This record gives sequence, structure tokens and C-alpha cells, in this order.
Amino acid sequence: MQIILAEHMGFCHGVKRAVELAQKSGEGSYTLGSLIHNPQMIAKLQEQGIKKIDSLYGVRPNSKVVFRSHGEPPVNYQVAESRSLEVIDATCPHVKKAQKSAQELFQEGFEVVIIGEANHPEVLSIKAWAGNNAVVVENEQDVADLPDNRRYGIVAQTTCIEEVFQFLSELIKKKASEIKVLRTICNATQKRQEAAVTLAKQVDTMIVVGGKNSSNTKKLAQVVLEHCKNTIFIETALELELEMLVNSKKVGITAGASTPDWLVEEVIEKMQSMQESLSENEIAIIRKDSIIEAKVISIGKDEVFVDINYKSEGVIPRQEISLLPQADLNELFKVGDTISALVVNLDKDDNVLLSKLKADAIKAEEKLVDANTKNEVLEVLVIAAVNGGITVEVMGVRGFVPASHVDLERVEDFSTWVGKKIEAKIIELDLAADKKRIVLSRREVLKERKSLEEKEAYKKIQIGKKYTGVVTRLAKFGAFVDIGGVEGLLHVSEMSWQRVKDPADVLQIGDKVEVLVQKVDVDNKKISLNLRDLHQDPWFTSVEKFKEDQIVPGKVSKIAPFGAFITIAENVEGLVHISEISEDRVEKLEEVLQVGQDVKVKILKIDLKAKKISLSILQAKKDEEKEEFKEYLDDKQGFTTPISKLLEKYVF
Ligand code: F3S
Repeated sequence: MQIILAEHMGFCHGVKRAVELAQKSGEGSYTLGSLIHNPQMIAKLQEQGIKKIDSLYGVRPNSKVVFRSHGEPPVNYQVAESRSLEVIDATCPHVKKAQKSAQELFQEGFEVVIIGEANHPEVLSIKAWAGNNAVVVENEQDVADLPDNRRYGIVAQTTCIEEVFQFLSELIKKKASEIKVLRTICNATQKRQEAAVTLAKQVDTMIVVGGKNSSNTKKLAQVVLEHCKNTIFIETALELELEMLVNSKKVGITAGASTPDWLVEEVIEKMQSMQESLSENEIAIIRKDSIIEAKVISIGKDEVFVDINYKSEGVIPRQEISLLPQADLNELFKVGDTISALVVNLDKDDNVLLSKLKADAIKAEEKLVDANTKNEVLEVLVIAAVNGGITVEVMGVRGFVPASHVDLERVEDFSTWVGKKIEAKIIELDLAADKKRIVLSRREVLKERKSLEEKEAYKKIQIGKKYTGVVTRLAKFGAFVDIGGVEGLLHVSEMSWQRVKDPADVLQIGDKVEVLVQKVDVDNKKISLNLRDLHQDPWFTSVEKFKEDQIVPGKVSKIAPFGAFITIAENVEGLVHISEISEDRVEKLEEVLQVGQDVKVKILKIDLKAKKISLSILQAKKDEEKEEFKEYLDDKQGFTTPISKLLEKYVF
């Protein structure tokens, strides 16, 4: 048996100081009330002639009176003075600070709130220093009862838990018109609790030594019990029995802040003597409900026999080994294996019935909580197909996977899953003794895995690269294209150089299509595709045959307030500005042009960059008239040159 002591344990600074001051005050002195919450220490002081008194009125003048570490109200100092008593002030410096803080807050006009236990002597003394008007709050309800819009000054009982202090302070803050918080917490208690918890997690048994009237030590034992089921709370070594330590390889010891070292030393001495008798005794002492180590000695069809270092062998029946009824015990164990099992029953003939499942379940609790907190993937065994899903064995405990959580797709028949190992995550965990509910999901695991794979695939997609994909879905705004495990959106505006009204006019589901990746958003799993840019813009090919100043036929395609759009070739439109329609002022274009009307236009400008063509009906007309007149003049051979030139000048 290994004995481990907690890193921080026993007397805190304040208690140690109080005991030393009392012992120094010598025989014939008194302590006002119990100096500390430890009956053994109080008895020892009595033996040394230091007696406990409950009132200052019963002692002779000039007597020495020790004020305990919890502190006293101001009135006791006044009484002691009036009765000429010598006060040995053993008030812990931390408590003094809390008393002083409360007094200052009171003097500054704050309504003092003490966070702590209302009837604790320390809290009563702090309250007295704040003029006895302070309010003590222990919980949320007490805070709720405080009036709103007050100036609150907060102090804490020195042993208050930091988290409780912060939480309640925040609540009070919400109610206050002004707040002043003075953190008067001493870390000694917390340090002892933290060290004890660390140790409790490593040992089979924890021993907490201390006064059962000490709230501090009681709290310590309670915290330890949460982490070590086999926790023994004793005041002295006398309470420790051999049976309590059977099967404990590692035993941890801690002690409350009011426990003297010599009490802990007595416990250790007793344990050492027990250790000797334990090793002398070859036969282990078996206790019901304890978990023991057992060695497999033979494997039957429906049970396993184990050596438990006892008068008789232990037996573990099949139903206490695996949740899977048809499990092959020879596959699970071999002779010589050491396993943990819980003692289920011990009859008068010393037959020991054991359960591996129950031991596993107890041991698994912490692991299950941990796995749930860490969202871990667990390997579980499917033990049965039931209504609404499958039952599984997880760390030796029965769990349930609802039908909707078995797979990504709907599963109709679960019977083929029985006996298989699957991966799943805990989605609901309630280990309360009366419930024990563990709900798992395989679907969550698959979903996360798929999402990860998709993310990887998204990362591999390169912007600007051409991919061959398959159209998987069509929507009004575009088409979804699978480009190798991931889907991208080909927006309707990126499909063609021509305007596409409905994606179904261009693509069909299942079509193989080459697309260009324009944008990849890995986090949101979005890919933008483009089909249009893979082909040359037909506008440029069509425009190639036109030149500026050329007169071409066209058709009015659209009329706007500022001019008319004329189609001069397929997909090629130009604009005739309103000023280029006629020499006369045009008020309403519809009066001179109609959609569909054939016209002749002169190309004024081709802007390839802006993909724009400027046209003129007026210039086309003028050019044509000029041409006609030229032809006419060329026919008049009889005219003398000077006149024809003159006419030319006149006309144009
Ligand atoms: Fe003092 Fe802290 Fe101990 S307040 S009495 S040192 S627990």
C-alpha cells in the first residue's frame, strides 16, 4: 500500500498562529469559544491548562484571554478592556482585513453585503464590524431579495469559493446604483481543496482527517468524494479500520485547515501498522460492492472462474461479462488475464459472485464524461436491433443509437448490424443512478468526416483552372455542377455570352460540361463556376466585318428616350442617338421610328473595349444624297466645269 499526502493540507497560517499564541499564553489563560474547530486540539489545550470560556464575564480581572482566528465583534474588545482583561488577539490577518474592509465600506455609506454563511462565527464578527447592519447572502435567492438601486459594498467570508464570490458579486452589481467590491478571500481553503482533488484522482482510497464540526473540513471531504468513491472522513486514527483499506494499492491523505499535524501523523502510523498485517495475511478481505483485481483461471461456456486471493474462487457469469448475449468468452479472455470485477454477492459459504460489466461501468463513468466533454469518437459494439434504433456496448455500458443517428441515409433493417463494431459520439449523457442514459450518434461522426473530406477537396480546387463536371441540379438562378466530389454553382449569368432566361435552355441534369473555377470559399463550401469565358465572345467575330463610316442596313430593335437601338448583325446592336435621327428636331422617337423598321445607318464609332457601336441615320441619309447628287452631276457632261463646281458647293 502506497500512502500519498496532499501537497497542501492541515493547519493554515491563521490557525497555526492562533494555536501558537494560545500555547504561548500559557497555563491559566482562556480562549473565548473554541479556538479552532477541532475537538482533539481543544482537548489538548485544556490539558495544557488553557480553558475555553463562553463569556468574558466569568473570568477574573488581569486574566489572559485569547480571541480566536475567526475574530470577535468590537463589543468584546470593549468588554475585555472594561474588565481589565489581557487580550491575546489571534484573529487571522485575513479575517482582520475582512472586518476592516466591512467597517470602511460602512463608514463610506455603503450598504454592506457579506457573501458567506450567515451563522458562521467569522461572518458574525465581520457583520458586527459593519455596525451590525450588513446583509449576508449565501445564494441567488438572497441576492434577489436585496432591494434595487442601492449603494452596495461587498466583502467575502475568507473561505468563500472564488467562483461563488464572482457570480454573486455580478448579480449584486446588476441591482446596485453604485458598487464597491473588496475581495477578502483567503486562498488557503481553495489550495487544500485543489490539492486534495488532484490526489483523489490518482488513488484508490482517500482519507480526510479533521473535525466533523468544521465546515471547512466537511466541504473538503465532500469535494474529495466527488472524485474518489472510496473516501473515508475521520477525526482520529481510532476510526480507521483494516477493512476500509483492503484492495487499496494507493491511499491519499488530506486534512482540513484546522487539523493539527499530529492527528495526521497518528493516522499514518496506524496505516503503516495495518499495512504490515495486510501483507502478513495472505487471504484478502472481500467486501460487497468493492472492485477487486481477479485472475482468470478457467473459461467455461457461460462463466469465467477467477482467482481472487480468497478462500474460494470467484465466478463471473456470462451476463455479467458482456452485453452481447452470444459473445464468445474464449475470444474475450485467456487464462492468466487480470481483470477488474465488482463483488456482487458473497454468501455464507464464501461463494463470490462477480460482475465485470458493473466494474467496467463504474470505471467508465469518468471516461464517458471525459469523452462527452471532448466530443470524442468512440468504438462501440452493436448488441441488438431494437425498436427505433440499435443498442450498443460502450466501455462496458449499454448505450442507444436512435435510427436517425445510425447512418447518413435512412436504414430500414438493423439486424445485420448486430455484432459489428461502429464508431459513434455521445450526444446525450445522464449517469444518474436511476437513469443511466447514454445516447450516441454514428451519423454525427460520418457528417463531420464528410465535411472534413469536402473541406480538403475544396482546398484542392484551383481558381482559374478548367474542370470537367456533371450537372447535378438545375435551379432558376443557375446549375449545380459536380467537379469531383464537390459541387459548384454555375450562375445563369455565367453560362453564355447571350442572355439566358432559364438554365434549362442551356443545360440538362447529367450533362457533362467543362467549366472554369472563378472563386472558392472553403469555409462556406462554395465554388463559383463559369462556362461563358471558356468560349470567345461572338460579338467580336460579328463586329470584325464592320468599319467606321460604313453605311449598313439595320433593324430597329428597341426605342429609348435618348435614341434607338439598331441591330446590324446577329448579336450586334448599335445606338443611334436622338440627335442623329433627323435634321429636324425629334420630340418623340416613336413618331419617326418603329421597332422592327428597316433603316440604313452610318457607323460613326466602334468602341471594342466598351463593346459599343455609335450609329447615325442622319449621316447615312446625307451620305446617300451626296452620292446620288454626285452621280447626277457626272451625268451632266454639257455643264461647264465652273458651274458644276458651283452647284456642288451650293448643294453641299
Ligand atoms: Fe485565516 Fe485563511 Fe486560515 S482566513 S484562519 S488563513 S483559512
